[in-house]
Order: sequence, then structure tokens, then C-alpha cells
Amino acid sequence: MKSPIVITIDGPSASGKGTVSRVLAQRLGYVYVDTGAMYRTLAWHCLNKGVDVQDEKKVASACRHWKARLECAEGQVFLSVAGYRPEKEIRESAASGAVPFVARVPAVRKWMKKTQQDCVQFGNLVMEGRDIGTNIFPDTDFKFFLDASPEVRAKRRHAQGVAEDVHQRDKIDSQRAAAPLMRPLGSLVIDNSHQTPEETVAAILQKIDEIRAARRPS
Ligand code: CDP
Repeated sequence: MKSPIVITIDGPSASGKGTVSRVLAQRLGYVYVDTGAMYRTLAWHCLNKGVDVQDEKKVASACRHWKARLECAEGQVFLSVAGYRPEKEIRESAASGAVPFVARVPAVRKWMKKTQQDCVQFGNLVMEGRDIGTNIFPDTDFKFFLDASPEVRAKRRHAQGVAEDVHQRDKIDSQRAAAPLMRPLGSLVIDNSHQTPEETVAAILQKIDEIRAARRPS
């Protein structure tokens, strides 16, 4: 059997990853995986259980014991916890504030790596996150890194009504020892400060076509 194709989309907060990855997945008929939502789900779970997210050992233990299950519905993969799929809750400011602390714990990243790699059971993937091209699927041919200027990213967050200090979250994500946010080797970097999501999707689709054409035997 042919192995599934994985397209990785990494980048910082408000770089447009979410919108672009979702549209791209629909366009290609691939399954969409929002890995940030997985970390957010664990952060939400820790807060629910009263786990101090600054305490790495307690977070690691919560991750070892939680009853999380990978599911796929309507073209999207998500984690359900004891049969419940948290959606709105994981976007609230409490979860956003807690998530970078949970995400820097090595045992959590190990659990997430295995779980995210297991997503190929659902078929071809568009997977977005912070370390997908560097750490989860480093061997894929299709790696993209989205970026935008700090001013544009702050404006986008503001327009979404998010008052969070994303700068602080980006700093923790970039400076942590375990799988920090980085441009993956061999990725196409797209600064979309002055692009519409549609233009970014078009640029990615064009690059995918070029890579496929270059691989075709002549
Ligand atoms: O809200 P935003 O789109 O900026 O972030 P997200 O994709 O929902 O990810 C939330 C947080 O999860 C990030 O700030 C990271 O701390 C963590 N994360 C990670 O460490 N690695 C990933 N592959 C995805 C997210």
C-alpha cells in the first residue's frame, strides 16, 4: 500500500496557518489536523483537573494518564477526552495562557509525536503546528512555513477579538528546549503579510505541483 502524503504547515501565532491549512485540506480532499488544538486540549484537561501547568512532573503524569482518543469526523482529526470533544473551551484565555507551559514538557511532546504520527491511519494529511516539518514528519517532501510581520499578526489577533499577548506565547514556543518553533529544513517560507489566504493557498498548491512534476520520471 502507498504511504499517505503529508503536507506540513508550521508557523507562529496568527501567521494564517489555520485558515490556509483548512482550505488546502478541503481543496485536496485531505484530512486536516490542527496539532495546536491537541496541545490546547491537554492544557484544558490539566486546568480541569487542577494540575499546576508550571509543574512539569505533574503535567507529564496527567498526560500519561488521560483518556484521550484520536477521532476523525468531517475531514478533521481531533482528540476526545473520556468521550467528550472540547471545542470552545480550548480557545478561551485560560487554555491559551496554559498551553505553552504544557507544550514545553518533553513527555508531552513525546506523547503528541506518536499520536500525531498515528494520524496517517485517516489518510493523506494537511497537518499544521510548530514542529511538524522539523520533528513529526521531517521526511515529507511538502513542507511549508508561514510567517507575517509582527504588526500584521497583532492586527489579525485583534480583529479576531483575541486580547491575548501572543508575543509572550511565541517567545516561550521559540525558546523551549524541546522541539522549538523553527523553520524546517527544505521548507518553502511564505511571508503572507500582504496576501489573502486564497493567495497563500494558491502559492502552496503551485509549489506542490512543481515538486510533483520534478519527481515524475521523464
Ligand atoms: O492560537 P494559535 O493558532 O497561535 O496556536 P495553536 O496552533 O492553537 O497552538 C497553541 C499552542 O500549542 C502553541 O502556542 C504552542 O505552545 C503549542 N503547540 C506546539 O507546541 N506544537 C505544535 N505542533 C502545535 C502547537
